[in-house]
Amino acid sequence: MQDLAGKHIVLGLKGGIACYKAAELCRALIKAGATVQVVMTEAAEQFITPVTMQALSNRTVYGSQWDAREPNNMPHINLSREADAILIAPCSADFMAKLLHGRADELLSLMCLARPIAEVPLLIAPAMNREMWAHPATQRNMAQLQADGATILGVGSGFQACGETGDGRMLEPAELLEDIVAFFQPKLLAGQQVLITAGPTYEAIDPVRGITNLSSGKMGFAIARAAREAGAQVTLVAGPVSLATPRGVARVDVRSAQDMMEATLSCVDAATVFIAAAAVADWRPAAPTAQKIKKDGSGKPPELLFTENPDILATVAQSARARDGRLFCVGFAAESHDLAAHSQAKRKRKGVPLLVGNIGPATFGQDDNALLLVDAAGTREIPRGPKLALARLLVSDIARRLKST
Ligand code: CTP
Repeated sequence: MQDLAGKHIVLGLKGGIACYKAAELCRALIKAGATVQVVMTEAAEQFITPVTMQALSNRTVYGSQWDAREPNNMPHINLSREADAILIAPCSADFMAKLLHGRADELLSLMCLARPIAEVPLLIAPAMNREMWAHPATQRNMAQLQADGATILGVGSGFQACGETGDGRMLEPAELLEDIVAFFQPKLLAGQQVLITAGPTYEAIDPVRGITNLSSGKMGFAIARAAREAGAQVTLVAGPVSLATPRGVARVDVRSAQDMMEATLSCVDAATVFIAAAAVADWRPAAPTAQKIKKDGSGKPPELLFTENPDILATVAQSARARDGRLFCVGFAAESHDLAAHSQAKRKRKGVPLLVGNIGPATFGQDDNALLLVDAAGTREIPRGPKLALARLLVSDIARRLKST
Protein backbone atom coordinates (compact mmCIF):
# COMPACT_ATOMS: atom_id res chain seq x y z
CA MET A 1 0.00 0.00 0.00
CA GLN A 2 1.30 3.44 -0.95
CA ASP A 3 0.35 5.06 2.34
CA LEU A 4 2.60 8.08 1.75
CA ALA A 5 1.73 8.71 -1.91
CA GLY A 6 1.99 12.42 -2.69
CA LYS A 7 3.94 13.24 0.49
CA HIS A 8 7.31 14.94 0.31
CA ILE A 9 9.50 14.23 3.33
CA VAL A 10 12.72 16.05 4.13
CA LEU A 11 14.80 13.47 5.97
CA GLY A 12 17.47 15.08 8.14
CA LEU A 13 20.37 13.02 9.49
CA LYS A 14 22.37 14.13 12.51
CA GLY A 15 25.58 12.36 13.46
CA GLY A 16 25.10 9.10 15.35
CA ILE A 17 25.59 5.41 14.80
CA ALA A 18 21.83 5.10 14.14
CA CYS A 19 22.53 6.74 10.76
CA TYR A 20 22.85 3.20 9.40
CA LYS A 21 19.10 2.79 9.99
CA ALA A 22 18.36 6.00 8.08
CA ALA A 23 19.27 4.26 4.81
CA GLU A 24 16.58 1.64 5.32
CA LEU A 25 14.14 4.28 6.56
CA CYS A 26 14.67 6.28 3.37
CA ARG A 27 13.93 3.21 1.30
CA ALA A 28 10.83 2.41 3.36
CA LEU A 29 9.47 5.94 2.91
CA ILE A 30 9.99 5.72 -0.84
CA LYS A 31 8.39 2.27 -1.04
CA ALA A 32 5.39 3.77 0.77
CA GLY A 33 5.06 6.33 -2.03
CA ALA A 34 6.81 9.40 -0.56
CA THR A 35 9.46 11.49 -2.24
CA VAL A 36 12.43 12.00 0.06
CA GLN A 37 14.95 14.84 0.15
CA VAL A 38 17.91 14.00 2.36
CA VAL A 39 19.78 16.67 4.33
CA MET A 40 22.88 15.54 6.23
CA THR A 41 25.11 17.28 8.73
CA GLU A 42 28.88 16.97 8.61
CA ALA A 43 28.73 14.65 11.61
CA ALA A 44 26.20 12.39 9.85
CA GLU A 45 28.63 12.06 6.94
CA GLN A 46 31.10 10.47 9.36
CA PHE A 47 28.67 7.56 9.76
CA ILE A 48 27.09 7.10 6.32
CA THR A 49 27.93 8.59 2.95
CA PRO A 50 25.78 11.00 0.93
CA VAL A 51 26.31 8.58 -1.99
CA THR A 52 24.27 5.92 -0.20
CA MET A 53 21.48 8.36 0.62
CA GLN A 54 21.49 9.82 -2.90
CA ALA A 55 21.21 6.37 -4.46
CA LEU A 56 18.31 5.43 -2.18
CA SER A 57 16.43 8.71 -2.45
CA ASN A 58 17.23 9.31 -6.13
CA ARG A 59 18.03 12.94 -5.29
CA THR A 60 21.27 14.70 -4.56
CA VAL A 61 21.83 15.23 -0.86
CA TYR A 62 22.09 18.66 0.72
CA GLY A 63 24.69 19.33 3.38
CA SER A 64 25.63 22.99 3.32
CA GLN A 65 23.74 26.24 3.69
CA TRP A 66 26.06 27.63 1.01
CA ASP A 67 24.94 25.09 -1.62
CA ALA A 68 25.26 26.94 -4.93
CA ARG A 69 22.74 24.65 -6.66
CA GLU A 70 19.96 26.89 -5.37
CA PRO A 71 19.62 29.98 -7.59
CA ASN A 72 18.72 32.15 -4.59
CA ASN A 73 21.36 30.40 -2.45
CA MET A 74 18.80 29.72 0.24
CA PRO A 75 18.44 25.94 0.54
CA HIS A 76 17.12 26.34 4.11
CA ILE A 77 14.10 28.24 2.77
CA ASN A 78 13.53 26.26 -0.42
CA LEU A 79 13.83 22.79 1.14
CA SER A 80 11.48 23.52 4.00
CA ARG A 81 8.81 25.16 1.82
CA GLU A 82 8.46 22.03 -0.33
CA ALA A 83 8.12 19.60 2.58
CA ASP A 84 4.97 17.97 3.95
CA ALA A 85 7.09 17.13 7.00
CA ILE A 86 10.67 17.36 8.19
CA LEU A 87 11.83 14.16 9.87
CA ILE A 88 15.07 14.19 11.85
CA ALA A 89 16.22 10.57 12.10
CA PRO A 90 18.52 10.12 13.88
CA CYS A 91 18.26 13.18 16.11
CA SER A 92 21.11 13.46 18.63
CA ALA A 93 20.80 14.88 22.15
CA ASP A 94 22.92 17.81 21.01
CA PHE A 95 20.62 18.54 18.08
CA MET A 96 17.56 18.50 20.36
CA ALA A 97 19.29 21.08 22.57
CA LYS A 98 20.13 23.11 19.52
CA LEU A 99 16.58 23.06 18.13
CA LEU A 100 15.29 24.06 21.53
CA HIS A 101 17.35 27.23 21.53
CA GLY A 102 16.58 28.06 17.91
CA ARG A 103 20.24 27.94 16.99
CA ALA A 104 20.92 27.80 13.27
CA ASP A 105 24.59 27.60 12.34
CA GLU A 106 24.35 24.84 9.71
CA LEU A 107 21.80 23.81 7.09
CA LEU A 108 19.73 21.26 9.06
CA SER A 109 19.07 23.45 12.11
CA LEU A 110 18.69 26.51 9.89
CA MET A 111 16.04 24.73 7.86
CA CYS A 112 14.16 23.55 10.99
CA LEU A 113 14.10 27.11 12.33
CA ALA A 114 13.04 28.55 8.99
CA ARG A 115 10.16 26.10 8.44
CA PRO A 116 6.63 27.52 8.52
CA ILE A 117 5.58 26.00 11.87
CA ALA A 118 1.86 25.73 11.08
CA GLU A 119 2.34 24.04 7.71
CA VAL A 120 5.45 21.89 8.00
CA PRO A 121 5.44 19.52 10.96
CA LEU A 122 8.74 18.58 12.58
CA LEU A 123 9.07 14.92 13.57
CA ILE A 124 11.96 13.82 15.73
CA ALA A 125 13.38 10.30 16.11
CA PRO A 126 15.95 10.59 18.93
CA ALA A 127 18.93 8.26 19.11
CA MET A 128 21.43 8.28 21.95
CA ASN A 129 23.03 6.41 24.82
CA ARG A 130 20.61 5.50 27.63
CA GLU A 131 22.23 7.87 30.15
CA MET A 132 22.00 10.74 27.68
CA TRP A 133 18.34 9.90 27.03
CA ALA A 134 17.48 9.69 30.75
CA HIS A 135 19.36 12.89 31.62
CA PRO A 136 17.05 15.59 32.98
CA ALA A 137 18.40 18.02 30.39
CA THR A 138 17.34 15.75 27.50
CA GLN A 139 13.94 15.03 29.05
CA ARG A 140 13.44 18.77 29.66
CA ASN A 141 14.44 19.56 26.08
CA MET A 142 12.08 16.91 24.74
CA ALA A 143 9.14 18.32 26.71
CA GLN A 144 9.91 21.84 25.51
CA LEU A 145 10.28 20.76 21.89
CA GLN A 146 6.84 19.14 22.13
CA ALA A 147 5.44 22.32 23.64
CA ASP A 148 6.98 24.20 20.69
CA GLY A 149 5.02 21.97 18.27
CA ALA A 150 7.45 19.18 17.40
CA THR A 151 6.37 15.53 17.49
CA ILE A 152 8.76 13.22 19.32
CA LEU A 153 8.41 9.72 17.91
CA GLY A 154 9.92 8.05 20.98
CA VAL A 155 12.86 5.70 21.33
CA GLY A 156 13.38 1.97 21.37
CA SER A 157 14.88 -0.04 24.18
CA GLY A 158 17.54 -2.71 24.11
CA PHE A 159 21.19 -3.35 23.32
CA GLN A 160 23.04 -0.18 22.32
CA ALA A 161 26.10 0.23 20.11
CA CYS A 162 28.06 1.44 23.17
CA GLY A 163 27.51 -1.97 24.79
CA GLU A 164 24.96 -0.76 27.34
CA THR A 165 21.32 -1.80 27.47
CA GLY A 166 18.40 0.55 27.95
CA ASP A 167 16.22 3.24 26.38
CA GLY A 168 17.53 5.55 23.68
CA ARG A 169 17.95 3.45 20.54
CA MET A 170 16.44 4.95 17.45
CA LEU A 171 13.18 3.21 16.56
CA GLU A 172 13.46 0.63 13.79
CA PRO A 173 12.69 1.88 10.24
CA ALA A 174 9.45 -0.15 10.11
CA GLU A 175 8.30 1.39 13.42
CA LEU A 176 9.13 4.89 12.23
CA LEU A 177 7.29 4.27 8.98
CA GLU A 178 4.19 3.12 10.90
CA ASP A 179 4.32 6.27 13.06
CA ILE A 180 4.78 8.58 10.07
CA VAL A 181 1.89 6.96 8.18
CA ALA A 182 -0.23 7.33 11.33
CA PHE A 183 0.81 10.97 11.68
CA PHE A 184 -0.78 11.81 8.32
CA GLN A 185 -4.08 9.98 8.93
CA PRO A 186 -7.06 12.17 9.90
CA LYS A 187 -7.73 12.07 13.65
CA LEU A 188 -11.35 10.92 13.33
CA LEU A 189 -11.39 9.06 16.65
CA ALA A 190 -9.49 11.59 18.78
CA GLY A 191 -10.68 11.32 22.38
CA GLN A 192 -12.22 7.86 21.88
CA GLN A 193 -11.17 4.75 23.82
CA VAL A 194 -11.47 1.74 21.55
CA LEU A 195 -11.49 -1.84 22.81
CA ILE A 196 -11.05 -4.59 20.22
CA THR A 197 -11.07 -8.39 20.40
CA ALA A 198 -9.13 -10.22 17.70
CA GLY A 199 -7.96 -13.65 16.58
CA PRO A 200 -9.19 -17.12 17.43
CA THR A 201 -9.58 -18.61 20.89
CA TYR A 202 -8.06 -21.91 21.96
CA GLU A 203 -10.09 -24.29 24.08
CA ALA A 204 -8.04 -26.93 25.86
CA ILE A 205 -8.94 -30.61 25.72
CA ASP A 206 -5.90 -31.62 27.76
CA PRO A 207 -2.50 -29.98 28.39
CA VAL A 208 -1.25 -30.68 24.86
CA ARG A 209 -4.37 -30.53 22.67
CA GLY A 210 -7.17 -28.13 22.04
CA ILE A 211 -9.76 -26.77 19.66
CA THR A 212 -9.26 -23.55 17.73
CA ASN A 213 -10.19 -22.08 14.35
CA LEU A 214 -8.56 -20.57 11.27
CA SER A 215 -8.86 -16.90 12.23
CA SER A 216 -5.47 -15.20 11.79
CA GLY A 217 -6.35 -12.06 13.77
CA LYS A 218 -5.19 -9.88 10.87
CA MET A 219 -8.50 -8.00 10.50
CA GLY A 220 -8.75 -7.18 14.21
CA PHE A 221 -5.10 -6.10 14.32
CA ALA A 222 -5.65 -3.91 11.24
CA ILE A 223 -8.62 -2.28 12.96
CA ALA A 224 -6.51 -1.65 16.05
CA ARG A 225 -3.85 0.02 13.91
CA ALA A 226 -6.43 2.09 12.00
CA ALA A 227 -8.13 3.22 15.22
CA ARG A 228 -4.80 4.26 16.73
CA GLU A 229 -3.87 6.10 13.51
CA ALA A 230 -7.21 7.90 13.85
CA GLY A 231 -6.15 9.20 17.26
CA ALA A 232 -7.96 6.77 19.58
CA GLN A 233 -6.48 5.09 22.67
CA VAL A 234 -6.65 1.45 21.71
CA THR A 235 -6.68 -1.77 23.75
CA LEU A 236 -6.45 -5.02 21.82
CA VAL A 237 -7.50 -8.28 23.49
CA ALA A 238 -5.78 -10.86 21.31
CA GLY A 239 -6.30 -14.60 21.10
CA PRO A 240 -3.32 -16.85 20.31
CA VAL A 241 -1.74 -15.28 17.21
CA SER A 242 1.85 -14.35 16.44
CA LEU A 243 1.19 -10.94 14.88
CA ALA A 244 3.19 -7.86 15.85
CA THR A 245 1.34 -5.38 18.06
CA PRO A 246 0.46 -2.21 16.13
CA ARG A 247 2.44 0.80 17.38
CA GLY A 248 0.90 2.59 20.32
CA VAL A 249 -1.70 -0.11 21.00
CA ALA A 250 -2.05 -1.73 24.45
CA ARG A 251 -2.29 -5.50 24.01
CA VAL A 252 -3.70 -8.13 26.36
CA ASP A 253 -2.95 -11.71 25.28
CA VAL A 254 -5.51 -14.37 26.09
CA ARG A 255 -6.07 -17.98 25.12
CA SER A 256 -9.60 -19.20 25.76
CA ALA A 257 -13.01 -17.58 25.29
CA GLN A 258 -13.35 -17.35 29.07
CA ASP A 259 -9.98 -15.53 29.31
CA MET A 260 -11.12 -13.22 26.51
CA MET A 261 -14.38 -12.52 28.32
CA GLU A 262 -12.53 -11.73 31.56
CA ALA A 263 -10.00 -9.43 29.86
CA THR A 264 -12.74 -7.67 27.91
CA LEU A 265 -14.88 -7.06 30.98
CA SER A 266 -11.91 -5.68 32.90
CA CYS A 267 -11.19 -3.11 30.14
CA VAL A 268 -14.66 -2.27 28.86
CA ASP A 269 -15.62 0.30 31.49
CA ALA A 270 -13.04 2.72 30.10
CA ALA A 271 -14.11 2.15 26.48
CA THR A 272 -16.33 4.29 24.29
CA VAL A 273 -16.22 1.88 21.34
CA PHE A 274 -16.14 -1.93 21.45
CA ILE A 275 -15.33 -3.89 18.28
CA ALA A 276 -15.65 -7.67 18.55
CA ALA A 277 -13.54 -8.95 15.66
CA ALA A 278 -12.47 -12.17 17.37
CA ALA A 279 -13.59 -15.57 16.14
CA VAL A 280 -14.57 -16.83 19.57
CA ALA A 281 -15.07 -20.58 19.91
CA ASP A 282 -18.74 -21.26 20.54
CA TRP A 283 -18.05 -24.32 22.66
CA ARG A 284 -15.27 -25.65 24.87
CA PRO A 285 -14.57 -29.14 26.20
CA ALA A 286 -16.66 -29.44 29.36
CA ALA A 287 -13.96 -31.10 31.43
CA PRO A 288 -10.39 -30.53 30.16
CA THR A 289 -8.09 -33.04 31.80
CA ALA A 290 -5.03 -32.07 33.82
CA GLN A 291 -3.00 -34.84 32.16
CA LYS A 292 -2.63 -35.83 28.53
CA ILE A 293 -5.35 -38.25 27.40
CA LYS A 294 -3.56 -41.46 26.40
CA LYS A 295 -4.73 -44.14 23.99
CA ASP A 296 -5.95 -47.12 26.02
CA GLY A 297 -5.31 -49.68 23.27
CA SER A 298 -9.00 -50.40 22.73
CA GLY A 299 -9.15 -48.39 19.49
CA LYS A 300 -12.05 -46.41 20.97
CA PRO A 301 -11.63 -42.61 20.75
CA PRO A 302 -12.35 -40.63 23.92
CA GLU A 303 -15.78 -39.08 24.20
CA LEU A 304 -15.69 -35.31 24.51
CA LEU A 305 -18.50 -33.36 26.04
CA PHE A 306 -18.84 -29.66 25.23
CA THR A 307 -20.26 -26.71 27.04
CA GLU A 308 -21.20 -23.35 25.52
CA ASN A 309 -18.84 -20.40 25.91
CA PRO A 310 -20.08 -17.03 27.14
CA ASP A 311 -21.04 -14.64 24.36
CA ILE A 312 -18.70 -11.69 24.88
CA LEU A 313 -20.29 -9.34 22.37
CA ALA A 314 -23.87 -10.00 23.50
CA THR A 315 -22.85 -9.54 27.14
CA VAL A 316 -21.14 -6.21 26.47
CA ALA A 317 -23.96 -5.03 24.20
CA GLN A 318 -26.45 -5.62 27.02
CA SER A 319 -24.50 -3.53 29.54
CA ALA A 320 -26.00 -0.29 30.80
CA ARG A 321 -23.30 1.81 29.10
CA ALA A 322 -23.99 0.23 25.71
CA ARG A 323 -27.74 0.55 26.11
CA ASP A 324 -27.67 4.24 27.02
CA GLY A 325 -25.27 5.13 24.19
CA ARG A 326 -22.01 5.67 26.10
CA LEU A 327 -20.48 2.58 24.47
CA PHE A 328 -20.85 1.97 20.72
CA CYS A 329 -20.70 -1.76 19.96
CA VAL A 330 -19.69 -3.30 16.64
CA GLY A 331 -19.93 -7.02 15.94
CA PHE A 332 -18.48 -9.21 13.22
CA ALA A 333 -20.01 -12.19 11.48
CA ALA A 334 -17.90 -14.84 9.82
CA GLU A 335 -20.27 -16.71 7.53
CA SER A 336 -19.89 -19.24 4.75
CA HIS A 337 -23.08 -18.33 2.81
CA ASP A 338 -26.14 -16.00 2.75
CA LEU A 339 -23.98 -13.23 4.20
CA ALA A 340 -26.54 -10.40 4.23
CA ALA A 341 -29.37 -12.42 5.77
CA HIS A 342 -27.19 -14.11 8.41
CA SER A 343 -25.45 -10.84 9.29
CA GLN A 344 -28.70 -8.94 9.72
CA ALA A 345 -30.16 -11.71 11.89
CA LYS A 346 -26.97 -11.84 13.95
CA ARG A 347 -26.91 -8.07 14.41
CA LYS A 348 -30.41 -8.19 15.90
CA ARG A 349 -29.64 -11.25 18.02
CA LYS A 350 -26.51 -9.65 19.46
CA GLY A 351 -28.26 -6.31 19.99
CA VAL A 352 -25.63 -4.13 18.25
CA PRO A 353 -26.17 -1.09 16.01
CA LEU A 354 -23.51 -2.16 13.49
CA LEU A 355 -22.34 -5.58 12.37
CA VAL A 356 -19.60 -6.30 9.86
CA GLY A 357 -20.19 -9.40 7.78
CA ASN A 358 -17.48 -11.29 5.93
CA ILE A 359 -17.10 -14.70 4.32
CA GLY A 360 -14.85 -16.60 6.72
CA PRO A 361 -13.29 -19.16 4.35
CA ALA A 362 -12.49 -16.39 1.82
CA THR A 363 -10.61 -14.25 4.34
CA PHE A 364 -9.11 -16.35 7.15
CA GLY A 365 -5.32 -15.95 6.96
CA GLN A 366 -5.45 -13.64 3.93
CA ASP A 367 -4.23 -10.05 3.71
CA ASP A 368 -7.36 -9.07 1.77
CA ASN A 369 -11.00 -9.11 2.69
CA ALA A 370 -14.39 -7.71 1.61
CA LEU A 371 -16.86 -6.38 4.17
CA LEU A 372 -20.60 -5.93 4.38
CA LEU A 373 -21.68 -3.27 6.88
CA VAL A 374 -25.11 -4.08 8.26
CA ASP A 375 -27.21 -1.70 10.34
CA ALA A 376 -30.91 -1.12 11.00
CA ALA A 377 -31.22 0.80 7.73
CA GLY A 378 -29.72 -1.90 5.50
CA THR A 379 -26.35 -2.93 4.11
CA ARG A 380 -23.32 -1.30 2.54
CA GLU A 381 -20.58 -3.20 0.75
CA ILE A 382 -16.92 -2.35 1.15
CA PRO A 383 -15.29 -4.09 -1.82
CA ARG A 384 -12.28 -6.39 -1.56
CA GLY A 385 -9.05 -4.71 -0.58
CA PRO A 386 -6.13 -4.93 1.87
CA LYS A 387 -7.34 -5.39 5.45
CA LEU A 388 -5.70 -2.15 6.60
CA ALA A 389 -7.52 -0.17 3.89
CA LEU A 390 -10.82 -1.79 4.90
CA ALA A 391 -10.08 -1.12 8.56
CA ARG A 392 -9.55 2.58 7.83
CA LEU A 393 -12.89 2.72 5.99
CA LEU A 394 -14.59 0.95 8.90
CA VAL A 395 -13.02 3.39 11.36
CA SER A 396 -14.25 6.39 9.37
CA ASP A 397 -17.73 4.81 9.17
CA ILE A 398 -17.76 4.33 12.95
CA ALA A 399 -16.51 7.91 13.48
CA ARG A 400 -19.40 9.20 11.35
CA ARG A 401 -21.90 7.22 13.42
CA LEU A 402 -20.39 8.49 16.70
CA LYS A 403 -20.66 12.05 15.45
CA SER A 404 -24.31 11.67 14.51
CA THR A 405 -25.39 10.17 17.84
N1 CTP B 1 -18.76 -13.45 19.67
C1 CTP B 1 -18.42 -13.25 20.98
N2 CTP B 1 -18.46 -14.29 21.87
C2 CTP B 1 -18.82 -15.52 21.46
C3 CTP B 1 -19.16 -15.76 20.11
C4 CTP B 1 -19.11 -14.71 19.23
O1 CTP B 1 -18.10 -12.12 21.36
N3 CTP B 1 -18.83 -16.50 22.34
C5 CTP B 1 -18.76 -12.32 18.75
C6 CTP B 1 -17.72 -12.36 17.66
O2 CTP B 1 -16.54 -11.71 18.08
C7 CTP B 1 -18.41 -11.61 16.53
C8 CTP B 1 -19.87 -11.97 16.73
O3 CTP B 1 -20.00 -12.34 18.09
O4 CTP B 1 -18.31 -10.22 16.68
C9 CTP B 1 -20.39 -13.06 15.86
O5 CTP B 1 -19.54 -14.16 15.91
P1 CTP B 1 -19.83 -15.45 15.02
O6 CTP B 1 -18.86 -16.52 15.42
O7 CTP B 1 -19.91 -15.09 13.57
O8 CTP B 1 -21.29 -15.80 15.45
P2 CTP B 1 -21.88 -16.73 16.54
O9 CTP B 1 -22.48 -15.90 17.61
O10 CTP B 1 -20.86 -17.71 16.99
O11 CTP B 1 -23.05 -17.44 15.74
P3 CTP B 1 -23.02 -18.70 14.72
O12 CTP B 1 -21.89 -19.58 15.14
O13 CTP B 1 -24.34 -19.28 14.87
O14 CTP B 1 -22.82 -18.13 13.33
